[in-house]
Amino acid sequence: MIIAPSLLASDHTRFGREAERAGRSGAEWLHLDIMDGHFVPNISFGPEVVRSLRPLTKLFFDVHLMCSKPDILLEPFAKAGSDQITIHVELGEAVIPLIWKIKSLGKKVGLAVNPPTPIAQVQPYLPLIDCLLVMTVNPGFGGQSFIYETLPKVQQANIWRRELNLRYRVEVDGGINHQTAGECAAAGADTFVSGTTLFKAPNLRAAVRKMQKVVNQYDPALADLAIEKNPQLAL
Ligand code: DX5
Ligand code: ZN
Repeated sequence: MIIAPSLLASDHTRFGREAERAGRSGAEWLHLDIMDGHFVPNISFGPEVVRSLRPLTKLFFDVHLMCSKPDILLEPFAKAGSDQITIHVELGEAVIPLIWKIKSLGKKVGLAVNPPTPIAQVQPYLPLIDCLLVMTVNPGFGGQSFIYETLPKVQQANIWRRELNLRYRVEVDGGINHQTAGECAAAGADTFVSGTTLFKAPNLRAAVRKMQKVVNQYDPALADLAIEKNPQLAL
């Protein structure tokens, strides 16, 4: 299980210190939300910020591009030190060339799906990706409430992983607190992006440790088997 604090919820006057704080928190990844003011109604930060943070921590950089034209951004974010670059399935026919470009840059590939988009849209890409990001809020802003209707997508993502014998991670992003993290883990998620709950906690390290403890009670391999035995668990 992986915890990925989202820098979007950190103190924007001191990204460097905040990234270092995340690095000391016991979390494995740092989630970096890139918003272009077009794909989502908000703007965050660019590759130069990511490049500046890179020497400050050994955390895996999980770069989430909420951008209409990620094509022009892939190389700058790859060079800035991203480990994984996630694009959105809502980009339609651009998705395949984007996936191959990320691979050609030597980075891991993530594919994100927004709450209103049917999970079936990601199915053709599953053999090509390293991580499936199920958005559990509509992207654009931190601090929103978890949308429970997205949980069946997490279950489906986990079922496909087993059925197709694939190894992609199942990541959730948006409204993840200590309760919803547990609910997502029970549904089969293994990677948990959390901004507000972690960065606004009085003690980031303790909040990360608590989230790890909650999610580590679950085994994604068992989540879909439990649903088969008790279909009522499938929401
Ligand atoms: C939403 C972003 C999230 C966000 C999560 O657009 O993709 O990564 O930072 O923040 P919280 O945990 O505050 O919902
Ligand atoms: Zn994100």
